[in-house]
Amino acid sequence: MGCLCLISMTSCIEGNENVNNESCSSLSQEEISKVVVDNIMSRRSIRKYKPQTVDREILDQIMKCGINAPNGQNKQSWEVRVVDNPQVMADIKTTLNAAYPNMPNASGCFRDAPVIVFIARATSYDFSAYDCGLMAENMVLAAQSLGVGSICLGSPVRFINDNPACAPILERLSFSDGYELSLCVGLGYADETPEAKPRDIGKVKYVE
Ligand SMILES: Cc1cc2nc3c(=O)[nH]c(=O)nc-3n(C[C@H](O)[C@H](O)[C@H](O)COP(=O)(O)O)c2cc1C
Repeated sequence: MGCLCLISMTSCIEGNENVNNESCSSLSQEEISKVVVDNIMSRRSIRKYKPQTVDREILDQIMKCGINAPNGQNKQSWEVRVVDNPQVMADIKTTLNAAYPNMPNASGCFRDAPVIVFIARATSYDFSAYDCGLMAENMVLAAQSLGVGSICLGSPVRFINDNPACAPILERLSFSDGYELSLCVGLGYADETPEAKPRDIGKVKYVE
């Protein structure tokens, strides 16, 4: 139910990206709140995926939600490359593994997600890493609402940026000059149901 409701809310952006949810949802405010909060609270990082890929139509919705994230001065200080082609992903993994010969499975950092979204940040903008992080969060929450599993991935960024032998990967992704790989998001259908990891509410304090 929650999943379907959010899909219908997401579909409101199809024609007009500025459409307000209220104008196209038949749900009450209370119902919308419950669905959205449940969606946030039930999302988990997925590290085991079914081999089945994600349709482009669904990926398009996830990407649209991504680029509608809040971002500094609406600079949209990101570039995104979606890799859903198994051969391209296999090539990237081969290059990565060859770049780290002492690591038995460097490409395991992609967690075998069938779709990897590579997000680059504009190095000229001091808040661009936040923009990319918020974009990734929108993507994983949209994915969750559409029944698609996800994971944010920092390790591939370190592996790729830190080793010149990974240059062919960046060439293949062909980000514009002035952009550097900042975060990856893995997408696919979950083959596990991990428990929520504990959170420390003590980190949050009201200032009286
Ligand atoms: C910036 C960032 C980088 C991350 N990098 C990795 C990673 O490289 N590999 C991995 O397995 N998980 C990675 N994660 C997922 C976190 O480990 C995960 O979000 C955290 O443990 C909380 O679990 P949950 O997402 O299931 O609530 C990353 C998450 C974020 C936000």
